[in-house]
Amino acid sequence: MEIIESVKQMSEQARAWKREGRTVVLVPTMGNLHRGHGRLIARARGLGDKVILSCFVNALQFNDKGDLEKYPRTREQDEDVARKLEVDAFFAPAHEEMYPPGFLTTVNVSYLSEKFEGASRPGHFRGVCTVVLKLFNICQPDIAVFGYKDAQQFTVIRHMVRDLSLPVEITGVPTVREASGLAISSRNKQLTDADKEKALCLSRALKRVHFLLKKQGIAHRGELLQAVRSAINSAGEGVEFDYADIVSATTFEPVDLVERGNTFVLVAARVGGVRLIDSTRL
Ligand code: PAF
Repeated sequence: MEIIESVKQMSEQARAWKREGRTVVLVPTMGNLHRGHGRLIARARGLGDKVILSCFVNALQFNDKGDLEKYPRTREQDEDVARKLEVDAFFAPAHEEMYPPGFLTTVNVSYLSEKFEGASRPGHFRGVCTVVLKLFNICQPDIAVFGYKDAQQFTVIRHMVRDLSLPVEITGVPTVREASGLAISSRNKQLTDADKEKALCLSRALKRVHFLLKKQGIAHRGELLQAVRSAINSAGEGVEFDYADIVSATTFEPVDLVERGNTFVLVAARVGGVRLIDSTRL
C-alpha cells in the first residue's frame, strides 16, 4: 500500500494508473475507520482495479470548533485497517497541503445544502463539497463510494457531480449497524453505555416506519412522522429531537406519500449532547 501525503504525488500516482487503463475507485473518509468504512472499501474493491482511501479531517466542514477538536484522529490504526483491506493508496494530506495559505474557493450546492443537516450545521455541505471536488480532481476516480447513512451528503454530492458534469460515478452503500440496530458512526465513541441504549430510539423509529409501511400499508408522511416523533420521545430525558422527515431520494423534498425505492426517512437527535443522524431508504 502506498502511503501518500502530498497532493502532487497522489495526482501523479492516479494519472499513472489511469494511463495503464486501470479503473480507480475513491473512498473519501475522515479516518477513524470502523466497520462502516470497511464495507465501503470492500465495495470499492469489487468495483475497480485500484482503491484510493483518503483520510483527511476536513476542518472546512465543521461549523463547531469544539466538534473539530474532539474528532478522533487515529492515523496508525487507520493505516493498519487500510492495509488489511488491501487498499492501494492511503492518501492522508495535512490541512495546509489541501488548503494552502490564501485558499479562497469553495463549492456550494445551494438550496439542497440549506435544509436538514445544512440548517443545523450552516456551511457544512459547502465544506464537504469543496473537499470532495478537490479529492476528485486530485485522485481522478472513475467511481467514488459513499455511505447512505449520510443520506443528504450522498444526494448533495450526486447533485454536484451532475451539475458540474464531473466524470465520476457515485455509488452508495447501505448503513452498517451494530447488532442492537445502532448505526455505526465515529460519534458513537462519545456515547456512554446508557446513552448508547437511549440512542437506539433512532433506529427503532426507522424500524417502526418500515413496519407501518410494509405491514400496515401506511404511506402518508404525517402518520409516519408521528410514529418517528413518538419513538424518539419515548427515549425520555437526555434525548433531544432535532428533525425527522420523509423525503424524495432525488430532490430531498418532503413527499406526502412514500414512493417505494425513491424515498428516504431521516431522523436526527442529540443523545447525551452528541448529535446523531440516521436514515433509511424506503
Ligand atoms: O462522510 C465523510 O466522512 C466526510 O463528509 C467526507 C465525505 C469524507 C468529506 O470530508
